[in-house]
Amino acid sequence: MTQRLRLGVNIDHVATIRNARGGDHPDPVRAAHIAADAGADGITAHLREDRRHITDNDIDRLMAEIALPLNLEMAATEEMLAIALAHKPHAACIVPERREERTTEGGLDAAGQHNHLAYYVDKLGAANIRVSLFIEPTEEQVAAAARLGAPVVEFHTGRYAHVEGEGRTAELKRIADCAALAVKNGIEPHAGHGLTFDNVIPVAAIPQLVELNIGHFLIGEAIFTGLDASVRRMRDLMDAAR
Ligand code: PXP
Repeated sequence: MTQRLRLGVNIDHVATIRNARGGDHPDPVRAAHIAADAGADGITAHLREDRRHITDNDIDRLMAEIALPLNLEMAATEEMLAIALAHKPHAACIVPERREERTTEGGLDAAGQHNHLAYYVDKLGAANIRVSLFIEPTEEQVAAAARLGAPVVEFHTGRYAHVEGEGRTAELKRIADCAALAVKNGIEPHAGHGLTFDNVIPVAAIPQLVELNIGHFLIGEAIFTGLDASVRRMRDLMDAAR
């Protein structure tokens, strides 16, 4: 049997709904507690430069109140580095960030931005924060992550999630090949973005993957079934794939 696949539940969009009206409901920290009880192995939150969902106070509270490891998604900026070093979350996932995008639309250019990223990978690593780079599943990006000494990469599964038919099969193969390549280079591979009950199984079945980070679908589904049920079903599907 393959190793149990870890589930990181991304709670950003609980904060999106809260922020639509201001105030403090629904509370992403309450969502993190429910996700933990439903079988999440970690909590993921993206503190964006524009604070459109998760806020600094949410990060304070997640660190203080949640026992599960926090994976802080962050842009490679001095502001975010200072916040990460002040909080020392278990993990930091460096993501590309553009103000006008609706979500994280593509992976980092780890190859083209080597010098810029090296500073952040080194500073976070020196503080014992496990660094991950959110990259497209390509050989070039895995090789760049290896040159940067990143212990973890997270493959962007957005393209896999959005294309149909043969395109999807090809994307799945790219993710599987890159997961194997990452392991060969001593890098722990994770994956995430756009995963749902309908598309998670083939990704979860890739034996080298250690963790999936899933947010938008789980929070959306929670409107209909509750967050506990939505996380439990995802957990069951991931377990069934192994
Ligand atoms: N992993 C990373 C690095 C992300 O930026 C996101 C989206 O914030 C996710 C995983 C989760 O994607 P989704 O919300 O589509 O499940």
